[in-house]
Amino acid sequence: SAKAGERLGEGNAGFSKNGFILAAIGSSVGLGNMWKFPYITGENGGAAFFLLFIVCLVVVGLPILLAEMTIGRGGRGNASSSLFNLTNKKHWKWFGLISIITAFLIMSYYSVVAGWTLHYMIQSFAGALSDVNMDYAATFLGFAGGYMPIFWSAVVMVITGYVIAKGVSGGIEKFNKILIPGFLILLLIMMVRALTLPGALAGAEFFLKPDFSKLNEESVLIALGHSFFSLSLGMGCMLTYGSYVQKDQSLGKATLAIGAGDLLYAFIAGLVIFPTVFAYGMEPSSGVGLAFIALPAAFAQMPLGFLFGGIFFLLLAIAALTSAVSILEVPVAYAMEQWKWTRKKAAIVLAGVAFLLGVPSALSVEGADGPLSNLVVFGKTIFDLFDFSTSYILMPIGGLIITLFTGYAWKRAGEEAGLTGGIYTTWMFLLRYVCPLLIILIFLYSVGVLKF
Ligand code: PFF
Repeated sequence: SAKAGERLGEGNAGFSKNGFILAAIGSSVGLGNMWKFPYITGENGGAAFFLLFIVCLVVVGLPILLAEMTIGRGGRGNASSSLFNLTNKKHWKWFGLISIITAFLIMSYYSVVAGWTLHYMIQSFAGALSDVNMDYAATFLGFAGGYMPIFWSAVVMVITGYVIAKGVSGGIEKFNKILIPGFLILLLIMMVRALTLPGALAGAEFFLKPDFSKLNEESVLIALGHSFFSLSLGMGCMLTYGSYVQKDQSLGKATLAIGAGDLLYAFIAGLVIFPTVFAYGMEPSSGVGLAFIALPAAFAQMPLGFLFGGIFFLLLAIAALTSAVSILEVPVAYAMEQWKWTRKKAAIVLAGVAFLLGVPSALSVEGADGPLSNLVVFGKTIFDLFDFSTSYILMPIGGLIITLFTGYAWKRAGEEAGLTGGIYTTWMFLLRYVCPLLIILIFLYSVGVLKF
């Protein structure tokens, strides 16, 4: 579209309709779906938590997702200037800036975990993870505690920076158009493999049979926080992507498609991970260890495990890279507009700085005996501090800014979103009252003011 193209400056068009949906699904489907979701589900009562997550996604996630895309398309700017363009009020610019900083911080440690997936993919395909007698916990902690992860996070930054430098239609859209459909095919192959393993049913049952007795107030906050992270909200990501969307694309439909895509991938990921883990007698709820310790140990016992393990980590890598691309675009869009940098310069410089910022995270994985693993700041390792402060503090703040902006400050959101009647009223009700209240609860709980 001409308008979206214009704002890019460099002869680069905005998203096509399908391209946008795929790119937004690429952003939302990430390590969150493939790795975080299964283990928090495992710890919080399986299907009971999944149902709770769907409720949070519908009540809080989708309204904010729609709000972000609407602000982006209406404001036609970056995550900070869009808010200003729509209200002409300076303070909104500063509020918007918070989300750009959040994106940058997330980029730094997200690329570290993305790098682990590349290493594990190659190791698996090469047959180096096929020994049933290997100690997979020691292997992972040895790897994560060394210097190799720095190399791999640099590889992630180079790939991400390259895609971003190629622009919106020629880079982001193309990348997602190839990877996201391929991703679904591989994921379905993995699901069939996992569900046909002897003993797989116990895993599927664990994931699908609700145990409501395990749900508590904390589960609700975890589900809420995860609906944010999973839909890439509260950090300007969907807003920035939205600024490249054509005027005649339905944002309401896009919201439903992205939400459904995110859920579907999380659901299938659960049907890959739990049956595999259960079939080989591993523990289902073990945090980081689920993807990098329990699963490799399970794949080692599986016939052709090097291949299926390799595909599994390839899936994690694709999920991580298509999300990383969307995160880097947030500060890049800002630098291009605010500092008049070229897209290429912004991509190279910002990927480089985010890489450097990620080095302390790479060296500080808990339990891994890395050079910085024993350094504790505010009761957490540096890695955990980045994860915690972005996921549970900065992203909720970013989300709160979006809800308040759309609910109270910008009067024409309904028009831009194309909503009328009861749907519009419901959207506004959620944005004005329900979302802010719940976000404030997550925030108070995260910072320890609220205790259960
Ligand atoms: N949604 C991604 C995931 O679930 O892994 C993570 C993410 C991507 C968070 C982009 C934030 C973001 F802007």
